[in-house]
Amino acid sequence: MSCDTPPPTVESALLGNILVLTLNNPPVNALGVEIRRALQAAIESANDNPAVAAILLVGAGRHFCGGADIREFGKTPLAPTLPEVVQRIEASAKPVVAAIQGVALGGGLELALAAHYRLAVGGARLGLPEVLLGLLPGAGGTQRLPRLIGAKAALELMLSARQLSAEEALKWGLVDRLGDSADALAEGLAYTRQLLAEHAGPRRTRDAQALSEQSVQRQAIASARQRATEKSRGLLSPLLIIQAVEAALDQPFEDGLREERRLFQECLASAQRAGLVHAFFAEREVLKAPETRAAAPRAIALVGVVGGGTMGAGIAVAALDAGLQVTLIERDQPALDRGRSNVERVYDTLIDKGRLTLADKAATLARFSASTDYQALAQADLVIEAVFEDMTAKLAVFAELDRVCKAGAVLASNTSYLDINAIAQSISRPADVIGLHFFSPANIMKLLEIVVPAKVAADVVASAFDLAKKLGKVPVRAGVCDGFIGNRILAVYRQAVDAMMEDGASPYQIDEALRDFGYPMGPFQVADLAGGDIGWATRQRKAATRDPRARYVQIADRLCERGWFGQKTGRGYYRYVQGSRSASQDPEVLAIIDAERARAGITPRSFSQPEIIRRYMAAMINEGANVVHEGIALRPLDVDITFIHGYGFPRYRGGPLKYADQYGLPRVLADIREFAEADPLFWQPSPLLVELVERGADFDSLNHLD
Ligand code: CAA
Ligand code: NAI
Repeated sequence: MSCDTPPPTVESALLGNILVLTLNNPPVNALGVEIRRALQAAIESANDNPAVAAILLVGAGRHFCGGADIREFGKTPLAPTLPEVVQRIEASAKPVVAAIQGVALGGGLELALAAHYRLAVGGARLGLPEVLLGLLPGAGGTQRLPRLIGAKAALELMLSARQLSAEEALKWGLVDRLGDSADALAEGLAYTRQLLAEHAGPRRTRDAQALSEQSVQRQAIASARQRATEKSRGLLSPLLIIQAVEAALDQPFEDGLREERRLFQECLASAQRAGLVHAFFAEREVLKAPETRAAAPRAIALVGVVGGGTMGAGIAVAALDAGLQVTLIERDQPALDRGRSNVERVYDTLIDKGRLTLADKAATLARFSASTDYQALAQADLVIEAVFEDMTAKLAVFAELDRVCKAGAVLASNTSYLDINAIAQSISRPADVIGLHFFSPANIMKLLEIVVPAKVAADVVASAFDLAKKLGKVPVRAGVCDGFIGNRILAVYRQAVDAMMEDGASPYQIDEALRDFGYPMGPFQVADLAGGDIGWATRQRKAATRDPRARYVQIADRLCERGWFGQKTGRGYYRYVQGSRSASQDPEVLAIIDAERARAGITPRSFSQPEIIRRYMAAMINEGANVVHEGIALRPLDVDITFIHGYGFPRYRGGPLKYADQYGLPRVLADIREFAEADPLFWQPSPLLVELVERGADFDSLNHLD
């Protein structure tokens, strides 16, 4: 909080005989300790004050309340707790009304549930998103909501973290009425006056009867448990939410609250909660690059895309979906036709699935044009190049862009590895050149690495962040190096994985270990999905410059030599049934691996699952530390967000460097030193890791350098 921000308060104003209590803690009126204390005191005094007939709760600013103050989690709790405050509100002898505008989320909705009557105005969003933070609603929500709307609907809301609109909230029974206008205070006052006129007294949610049909409720709990066990892959809080709702069914209200508290504390103490809360704040911190503070973005409405292949088409769709105007450039007419159909196919698939109408597609494509003539980019505000990963091809494209684009146009490359400084230097306007590294499929994957070359203007970087926001992407600022943040680290842990395979672990065992760790897919499944040919070409290109002393595992080359590039060829590390993604293990692959081990003179040994994870994570963390050390990533949290949103790293572990902090940096370093005994060239501890261990510090200490 800056020194000119007023302290959080609950403002009290007596309007006639209605006491209006306004939560005031910008920007979302989170229920930090000051608010809890003030609210508790205000309810007490209202109950003692004969001039007060009813209490109206509202939020200052845009929102009613965004819930508990997430920054307090993991710190020493300060009294009164939120459950206590909420209990005090429900116990009020004078009727309490909540009038909701903006969000009522988590503890914010629980507060409203403890009020005796609820109203929402248009645009309001109500939900219990605690599961996204590894928590459960811990202020009575698991006990009150099922009593109010039944176990099935309550579980659906809590397990999905879905946010209901005001209209939905009325239909679901979360609120009693909708406001006619957007003015929550005026609507709330009118409703409260009406309640007083009708002599409506306190009506406590704890007494609501929606749980009375026991067998229906039990069935809802059983099926939620079955689904959560199948789907939530190692997540703790969904199962504990179900347990808490079961307590609402089985136990008296007060006992249920105690059980909820116990389960909430279990979630709060978990590493998953710490990982998920870290991810929540890190997602917001990545938006705060130095350039976004220093400069305003340029206006971007017209976007050019050069290259209509896998990435170019996906980028075009992402921009179209964001409402932008898009012009696609290809090298000749057949390629242009393919590019156009690559774009159209995305919409046709949605139509086939019933998620889009023909009219929607036509309306979107009305903003799309395609040409083989660069002149069509003359008015573009931003152009994103996505041609082959070849420096000569890229330089030729940028020369054309330099020739045709208007002054002030942002010129971006989607290169995965190439030197963007060299691209920038090759044209007359290096300050306009930036890297925008999308991930495949570009219209789906959330990550956007914003690669910042030496000469780029601050407002170009700010424009890239602004574009990410428009496209609904999660931007991470990266410096220029081979592979930037993500692919550079990927190259290193892939080597660790390949070495384990050659030393005795099967690709299937490694994939299973990483799925159990929380990844949706293992690294060999990912390789088969991405296609082995791209990596093979890269390895051939880099063969001449590879350190001859470095270990080089040739198994992937043996597969590629057979034309086994993964899913698209029906064979890779796995075999694929024609035209399907269903994979089976392949004994021939295992035989090839055996032959390679023999050729390299390696006697295979067995690997336990923990050892696989130890080696995989040590390689990833060590290179992550190097990337931070060299300033390629601004902070450790940028590495974390890159892996969560670009590489499927389990969000509940908070990212690789958050995981490292939890595992303990001295242990990571000890692992690296142990592995270095067999391969000292590969396992060289990062200077940053060594320094942090020597100082007794962790990666998180580097996340808060403002
Ligand atoms: N506690 C503390 N800070 C919060 C917060 C919370 N509950 N919710 C948001 N903030 C902070 C954000 O970190 C951000 O801070 P910076 O500006 O310093 O980065 C700022 O408020 C604005 O947040 P957004 O950028 O996300 O603003 P938005 O307008 O896009 O979204 C929002 C607003 C929908 C409320 C969104 O912030 C959100 O989803 N917040 C989390 C809501 C939530 O999960 N609540 C449950 C909390 S757990 C709980 O309540 C447990 C319980 O049962 C007791
Ligand atoms: P692709 O081979 O699918 O598409 C490249 C397209 O560029 C082709 O349609 C080709 O006709 C066109 N093209 C080539 N030269 C051109 C020119 N001079 N003018 C206009 N168009 C031209 O390749 P892909 O996979 O889309 O990759 C494109 C870029 O994106 C590469 O730099 C790649 O490294 C990068 N990238 C690729 C990812 C992936 O997963 N495929 C992920 C992130 C980045």
